[in-house]
Amino acid sequence: MTAIRDDFKRAMGHLASGVVIVTTRDSAGEPRGMTATAVCSVSLEPPLVMACMGHESATHRAVESSGVFAINVLPAAARELAGRFSSRSDDKFADVRLTKGESGAPLLAVALAHCDCRVEQSVAAGDHTIFIGRVLSVHAPDEPNGPLIYFRGAYGSVAPVDADDRDRRGT
Ligand SMILES: Cc1cc2nc3c(=O)[nH]c(=O)nc-3n(C[C@H](O)[C@H](O)[C@H](O)COP(=O)(O)O)c2cc1C
Repeated sequence: MTAIRDDFKRAMGHLASGVVIVTTRDSAGEPRGMTATAVCSVSLEPPLVMACMGHESATHRAVESSGVFAINVLPAAARELAGRFSSRSDDKFADVRLTKGESGAPLLAVALAHCDCRVEQSVAAGDHTIFIGRVLSVHAPDEPNGPLIYFRGAYGSVAPVDADDRDRRGT
């Protein structure tokens, strides 16, 4: 069991991912958040995204109780925040500039893009829950900063192989 667990983690580590901070608020209204890569878009009509969160996470508990979350896509320059928000610290938001989404979830000003969501469905999946959120609002300025990437256990950045070769779906 341990062997497949380690091999599974190593295999999935080859899937280079953008890094986000999933934010929400707890029952006292305080901001909560964690670093995540298990996040993706689900549907365009209606707009849905999913975030897959471990049961032991404080942010998971806060999403369950508040019923809202936001996806904050990190720029490469925010590597320190990715480390901070992957810890269990109670003080993750110190000096982090925030605004508030329509849902009431905190939004990180440093993010490349936000999706502010209300939980529409929660799916139990092993030791995680897949939260599917209805996107209430988005913010994605066309800025030049590149994304933070996670690949084989390390953070990095990415440059387009060919900027003229963009996906024509316009995403
Ligand atoms: C690069 C990276 C990606 C992560 N992705 C996820 C994820 O998608 N889902 C998850 O539950 N935990 C993920 N984690 C682990 C959480 O960030 C970590 O458990 C965190 O301490 C949870 O904080 P909390 O208990 O305050 O919510 C990731 C950690 C790192 C470093």
